Amino acid sequence: MSDMFAWMYSDVVKDHFMNPRNVFSPDENFSYDAEGITGSVKCGDQMQFMLKIKDDVIEDVRWRTYGCASAIASTSMLSDVVKGMEIKEAYSIKPNDIAQKLGGLPDNKIHCSVLGDKALRAAVDDYLVKTGREGLFRNEGTKVICTCLNITDRDIEEAVKAGARDWEGLQERTKIGTVCGGCKKEGEELLHEYVHIFA
Ligand code: FES
Repeated sequence: MSDMFAWMYSDVVKDHFMNPRNVFSPDENFSYDAEGITGSVKCGDQMQFMLKIKDDVIEDVRWRTYGCASAIASTSMLSDVVKGMEIKEAYSIKPNDIAQKLGGLPDNKIHCSVLGDKALRAAVDDYLVKTGREGLFRNEGTKVICTCLNITDRDIEEAVKAGARDWEGLQERTKIGTVCGGCKKEGEELLHEYVHIFA
């Protein structure tokens, strides 16, 4: 292991990267109640989350991704954290919550960790659809700005609080606008508003 690798990542990140928890294996025949997929194949960092749910509690989780070390470690940690959690609570988990549990991530790697919680929310949304409760949590106190990637005004606020100051910085942290680009105008307006408020 090079010194650079040791310098960049906490021991917790390294452990979850080397020994990722709850990774999906096609041989396992894992049966699940809900599934969420997010990310862009073009960028090579698509994320899939599968949930086994009983009485609105997440009993078991599997996931897979083509992402980097930070994406793997943060999704591994996320998958551990949400086991036994009510779906409503799991829905509100943010990338920063997971980054803190990992002992932090390098600034230039934060953007790699944002897909796990979005795939998780997509899976919960899938479950809500299947149980006749479509959209029950999605708009709770938030507004979806980027419909392609399900990025809300709250995600933009969190990104600004975490240091995003321009469109590129916001994209680094959230990937907003990287599919059709149709959300750019509204996203930029919110970005400027939050920078004014929080920066
Ligand atoms: S709406 Fe945001 S990329 Fe399409």
